[in-house]
Amino acid sequence: MRLLITGGAGFIGANFVHLTVRERPDVQVTVVDKLTYAGHRESLAPVANRIEFVKGDVADVDLMHRLVGECDAVVHFAAESHNDNSLRGPAPFITTNINGTFALLEAVRAHGVRLHHISTDEVFGDLEIDDPQRFTEATPYNPSSPYSSSKASADLLVRAWVRSFGVNATISNCSNNYGPYQHVEKFIPRQITNILSGLRPKLYGEGRNVRDWIHVDDHNRAVWTILEKGIAGETYLIGADGEKSNREVLALVLELMGREPAGFDCVADRPGHDLRYAIDSGKLRSELGWEPEFRDFRDGLAATIDWYQRNKDWWQPFKEATERAYGAG
Ligand code: NAD
Ligand code: TYD
Repeated sequence: MRLLITGGAGFIGANFVHLTVRERPDVQVTVVDKLTYAGHRESLAPVANRIEFVKGDVADVDLMHRLVGECDAVVHFAAESHNDNSLRGPAPFITTNINGTFALLEAVRAHGVRLHHISTDEVFGDLEIDDPQRFTEATPYNPSSPYSSSKASADLLVRAWVRSFGVNATISNCSNNYGPYQHVEKFIPRQITNILSGLRPKLYGEGRNVRDWIHVDDHNRAVWTILEKGIAGETYLIGADGEKSNREVLALVLELMGREPAGFDCVADRPGHDLRYAIDSGKLRSELGWEPEFRDFRDGLAATIDWYQRNKDWWQPFKEATERAYGAG
């Protein structure tokens, strides 16, 4: 199989490339990535001689036609992915997440190529803390932020191209990922690298907000399961029953890194901050047989902390600029 992976120099995409090279040596991998602030060639260094890398924009119609015409399937990770950035400047979220997905859809339509579109549970909006419900494939879309609304838009385009043009596409909506190679702007790596840099961790508001954490390898194995067994036109929710409040996650980071429980700052809350995300992944489990392998969040988090301790060369070059963008907040 010749597989085109968009956004393969980002967090989840790079881990997907590593997993694919490691476990599916017959797959011929091409990565296309614009190398924005969030994309790092270094994340692909260990597999550089096993893949083809193309620096390019998913919104570039001609490039997408050429690359899609040379592959059998596409996994579409490329996106602007950070809520806080979408509040500071939404424009690239529209061009990459919406126009980029449009360009890719037109290319897979023209060439009859299989597409798997990567999305987020944030398209559903949020849940109350004490709501017994979790998101399912039937939950209506109700996105809150420029990021989540741009991802919701992209999902709707994919659904329309399946229905109107018979494009062979599947969609997955996954919960919050953690693991190696995640940008230090995101919650867990920001706190780990703050501690490693002599800065105090920053908790938004009171830290009551709940996220449903999943290890990035569990997400990526689910993507492979859907690529191989998923039904065209279907959506699958990916989650590993990992609900935790931000306060709980931070307490664990502080404990695992040998810091005082009170060694963090509460800072101004994010405007429009979604309260809780929670995924019911029953369809993926019962219909396609996927199960998560990382069942102990504490162990997965300890391994992630260890990775950031051992890979300062990877994250230190962009730590300062990230904190500056946060207003050193
Ligand atoms: P990331 O920000 O770490 O990586 C995004 C990658 O896309 C970067 O390599 C960047 O250079 C590339 N990119 C950005 N604009 C591009 C463009 N116009 N053309 C080509 N490449 C471009 O993001 P991530 O956390 O790895 O997320 C990957 C995907 O997974 C996104 O679609 C995101 O919405 C989705 N997702 C993320 C999470 C999460 O917890 N991080 C959860 C669910 C879904
Ligand atoms: P984030 O990693 O940005 O993911 P998302 O917004 O997509 O869920 O944030 C995860 C949670 O952590 C979210 O509730 C916001 C919160 N948060 C903090 O408390 N402090 C921080 O420094 C950051 C970046 C996020």
